[in-house]
Order: sequence, then structure tokens, then C-alpha cells
Amino acid sequence: MITQVIAHRGSKGLRPENTLPAFSKAIEAGADGIETDVHLSKDGELIIIHDETVNRTTNGTGRVYDMTLKELKELDAGSYFGLNYLGTRIPTLQEVVHLLIESHYTGVFNLEFKTDKFGYPGLEEKVANYFDSIDYPFHLVYSSFNPKSIKKIHAIQPTIETASLFKLRTASAKRFAKKNVIQDWHPSIAWVRSHRWFLPRMEIRPWTVNSEDNMEFCFKHHFKGIITDFPERGLSIRKSI
Ligand code: G3P
Ligand code: CA
Repeated sequence: MITQVIAHRGSKGLRPENTLPAFSKAIEAGADGIETDVHLSKDGELIIIHDETVNRTTNGTGRVYDMTLKELKELDAGSYFGLNYLGTRIPTLQEVVHLLIESHYTGVFNLEFKTDKFGYPGLEEKVANYFDSIDYPFHLVYSSFNPKSIKKIHAIQPTIETASLFKLRTASAKRFAKKNVIQDWHPSIAWVRSHRWFLPRMEIRPWTVNSEDNMEFCFKHHFKGIITDFPERGLSIRKSI
């Protein structure tokens, strides 16, 4: 099995994370997959951003869930990364999916329900309804740190590949794996490296695998995938092994 190289929040190392330029860059690099994070706005829109607030990656302040789509769209989500990206906007899930469809992207699209800190009412249902309403060329994979989100999305769309994310605690992932609620584990690379006994036991895609050493380790163990800020580096190291 070839280890998939999945671009974390788009090509986060080279472009402002979770923006259309970051996703275009990942497609251009030939990444086997793209990982991203979804939240809900005040008016119920599916918003692509990592944090619960806009503070770190935009010129605004406040919680995503307290802002309307119009308010979120007024923010600059590029200039924190560099002035070349001034004017880059926070995308909606639909805008990202349209880019992937236009690009005939057939890789993995890993959507993380960003519900680690709190759940959003109706988020999983909205995402499922959206994907049920369109045809898409990519392979959809859901993930979350939050067992409630995993449970919900599996109940609505049991045939979509799903993964548990974790840094330390494995109890819910183990339970879900037993019941086939999840097919994959998405652990931190630090966890993987300190739990070598676990290696042959599951399909895993560790994150965030950026160093050459960690990349080589994952490729040599034939993991299902790596989630990396630098897909170009991952693809080139994979080729050299
Ligand atoms: O999906 C892997 C990784 O994205 C999980 O952590 O904090 O970057 O969303 P985070
Ligand atoms: Ca994520």
C-alpha cells in the first residue's frame, strides 16, 4: 500500500492555512489528499477555518459562531501569512468543494469536524445533507477529536470512511473501531512514536508529519497516510525510499 500524502489545512506550510490558495497549492503539488476543518457561523453556514475564533488567522476578533457569513467574509485571512495574500477570504465548505470539483480532484478530502471545544447544533447534519445533495469526484473521509461528532456522522452517513483523531486518549477510538464506526485512526505522530507496539494494528494517518525523519518512519511502516504541512516534501521523500 502506498502511503497517502495529505496536505494539512491545505498546503499550510506554504500558503495561508485553510484558504483557497492553500488548497490550490496542495492540488498543484499532487497531494493524495487534503485535510481541512469545518465550523458553523451564526447564520448556519459551513465555514472552513481551524480555530474557534478568527483572532489568529485574520485581521478580526471574535468567535466564528458569533459572526454571520457576511461578517466573516469581510475579514482578511491571508495577510497574517504575508502581504502577497492580502485580500484572501475565509472560504465556505461549498467554495472549497467547488474548487476540488473544478480541478477534477480525485484524492482524499478529509473533513474534520472542529468540535473539540464545543459542538455546533446541526453541524454534522448540515455537512451530510450537503454531500448527499452533490456529486463529487474525491474520496470523502470524516474525522474528529470529539466522539459525539463521530457517533453522529456515522449514524447519518454510515458508508462514509471515518477516523478518530487523538493525541493521548484512545478509549473512544478503540470502542468505535470494535463496532466499525471508524475505519482509521488519526493519532498525533508523537503518540505513534511512543506506542510502537500498536503499529501493525490499525489503518493510521498520523499528523502533523513534517520532519524528514518522521516522514521516513511513516513511509517505512507503510502507514495508510501522513497528514503534513509540506506535501511536496512528503511526495519527494516517498519517491526516494
Ligand atoms: O487532522 C489532523 C490534524 O489536523 C488535527 O489537528 O489541530 O491541526 O486540526 P489540528
Ligand atoms: Ca484539522
